[in-house]
Amino acid sequence: MQTQLLGNAKQVSQHNDHITIQTAEATAKVWVYAPAIIRVNITKTPDKADTSFAVIQQPESAINYSDSDQEIIVTTEALTLRINKAPLRFSFFTPDGKPLSEDDTRFGVNWQNERVVNYRKLYADEKFIGLGEKTGDLNRRGTHYVNWNTDASKHTIYTDPLYKTFPFFIGLHSGLTYGLFFDNTYKSYFDFGATTDDEMSWFGADGGDMNYYFFGAQGVAEIIKDYTWLTGRMEMPPLWSIGYQQCRYSYMSADEVLGIAQKFREHNIPADVIYCDIDYMDNYKIFTWNDEAFPDPKGMIDQLKALDFRTVCIVDPGIKVEEGYKQYDEGVAKDYFATYTNGDNYVASVWPGRCHFPNFFDDEVKEWWGAAFTALTEPGVEGFWNDMNEPAAWGQNIPYLVKFGDRYMAEVRNAYGMEMTKATYNGTRKILGNKRPFMLTRAAYCGTQRFSAVWTGDNTATDEHMLYGQRLVNSLGLVGMSFTGVDIGGYTGNPTPELMLRWNSLGVYIPMYRNHAEIGTAMREPWEWGEENMAIIRKDIELRYQLLPYIYSGFYESSQNGLPLSRTLAIDYTQDENVFDVRYQNQFLFGNFLLVAPVESTKLTAAVYLPGGEWYRFGNDKVYEGGMAHSVPAPMNDLPVFVKGGGIIPMQSVIQSTNEAGDGIFYLHIWKGTEDSKFVYYEDDGVTYDNERGIFHKRDISYHAEYNKVILAIADGTYTSKFNTLKVIPHGFGKTVKTQEVPYHPGLIEITL
Ligand code: GLC
Repeated sequence: MQTQLLGNAKQVSQHNDHITIQTAEATAKVWVYAPAIIRVNITKTPDKADTSFAVIQQPESAINYSDSDQEIIVTTEALTLRINKAPLRFSFFTPDGKPLSEDDTRFGVNWQNERVVNYRKLYADEKFIGLGEKTGDLNRRGTHYVNWNTDASKHTIYTDPLYKTFPFFIGLHSGLTYGLFFDNTYKSYFDFGATTDDEMSWFGADGGDMNYYFFGAQGVAEIIKDYTWLTGRMEMPPLWSIGYQQCRYSYMSADEVLGIAQKFREHNIPADVIYCDIDYMDNYKIFTWNDEAFPDPKGMIDQLKALDFRTVCIVDPGIKVEEGYKQYDEGVAKDYFATYTNGDNYVASVWPGRCHFPNFFDDEVKEWWGAAFTALTEPGVEGFWNDMNEPAAWGQNIPYLVKFGDRYMAEVRNAYGMEMTKATYNGTRKILGNKRPFMLTRAAYCGTQRFSAVWTGDNTATDEHMLYGQRLVNSLGLVGMSFTGVDIGGYTGNPTPELMLRWNSLGVYIPMYRNHAEIGTAMREPWEWGEENMAIIRKDIELRYQLLPYIYSGFYESSQNGLPLSRTLAIDYTQDENVFDVRYQNQFLFGNFLLVAPVESTKLTAAVYLPGGEWYRFGNDKVYEGGMAHSVPAPMNDLPVFVKGGGIIPMQSVIQSTNEAGDGIFYLHIWKGTEDSKFVYYEDDGVTYDNERGIFHKRDISYHAEYNKVILAIADGTYTSKFNTLKVIPHGFGKTVKTQEVPYHPGLIEITL
């Protein structure tokens, strides 16, 4: 192997928005994207087109720097980059000179054959969080990871890599925070001091450039805001998609699908979504229907609509090799598929048998793929589940010779799923006009939050999968993915009734609430667990529906500033060591005010750590002191969930689906606190893009601790809220403070408790 160090700066030049530094080996460029975001690109091919799947912003037009014999100093109001010239090294500091992250002085950036690597100094107290869907602990210090999107079926709680690639992490040390996004889609590596005697952390990739964005904002939330400014934020999801979702591989016929939907209504269990997994298709051919089992898709979907159910269908990228099948014939004729280097279409087997794989890196292919969704939208499908898009093929070892257009798989594999999902999103969005499509994908790269939800693939029905799955959700939240889910109940294997109950209770607080199971497993629907358990499951699902005003507003927050709905405590309580304690690391905030403690199905009490402040048990208002751990009851029908003092939680009446208006009452729950608090309430029609034209209803709701007042500021937007009555429900204020009821209207409303 050849190792090549970066060498010394030979020449420095300025080009409007960036500076270029030339060494004997490479070219380094530096841009400022925002005061707290600096980009560094170190390349051996400086003339190659500069493209990114993830980044949607442009650099600032000017760059402020000084250049002396020893170093170049780039300064912004939030960040200082000191570039040592001999040897060329990049180190970031706060404006007042505190080190945030420094190149290792000996090795910095270097090449090991084609692999490009950056070694950085490891600080004694440094912790690392992020990378999205990765197993392991919240604090990734001492571990290492690979990014190579993989169909990780049967994965354990230690498997790496899984399905997605998010080369973005946040470093914490000396009371400071920084973020680093390595925008490179080759197979990549992250090592957080696993085997360097605590001297260095490093990251690199099998090819491409050392191309990273450094985030210098102080505060994890601020870094997430900046990262999602750079790579984009989610749009408002269809309201129905955040209701309860029922899935199975597969409901085998239209009759079965309808029967399941009917059962929800018979049992008065709220639900909005039912899925068709691969068996709705004719021999797993995308954009077809099995005309025996699903003879009249429109008829089925119309009946589902009458039951207030929406339909989501799975789509896989593999196109069956079969003459006479439209997608195959067209794709072959137009050279739309991945090829070997000699131009032959690449073939591998997936569900349909031998398949070709669309080249989603080509705009024309994307258009073609997107336009074919009329086969699903015409009968009335509104949600699109992009699966097997790592891409997966039996054997899971697609040769490196495979090309997508002129790019090798090695370069772009990690972005394949995202580009497929983009094609599905663009296509269905166009076809559906003003209606929001629901999108779900298994494989992803940075930026996927702009068009899709994700779920964490084929987990297993065990307690350890439930707990680590929550860490995956929380970690995905750190990389801009707010709309996330896991297969509740566990995909593989059969949950015990207790595990099903526990996981379903946790699901109330998982952004996407979907029950899904593998073929051959026991049926999993709420009524499969006996009357008593069904009552508990129903109650939890009802609670989810009552919480929808809070949850939908939480998604609005994600759409505005990128903060996720499910938040590891490391976001709000970064400097609290207990948050990283493996006993408490699965805990998370759900929105701004709820703290959820996942508990194994085998335990009826739980050790819960509550960060500083005052907390109330959600449901019975028992008061708990923060800044310490508590042993709390965790009966099967009451997952430990706590509300922060000053909590503002808008709720609604129980409804059976988001199609129902409810009783028109805005149940505004307020918990007494010692500090003022604020909640941004958001509502719109939940199904169209009219919200983008100002047709929404949004207002600040604030709690003023000193004056015991709740104020609903004048609402923004032209949408008329579905609520006509406001009920303010106090918690923790003592018996004399009573619930108050007044008309709900968009003008200023002031309530003294
Ligand atoms: C994959 C998916 C799973 C789906 C199955 C059949 O394993 O991860 O969710 O049910 O394929 O389509």
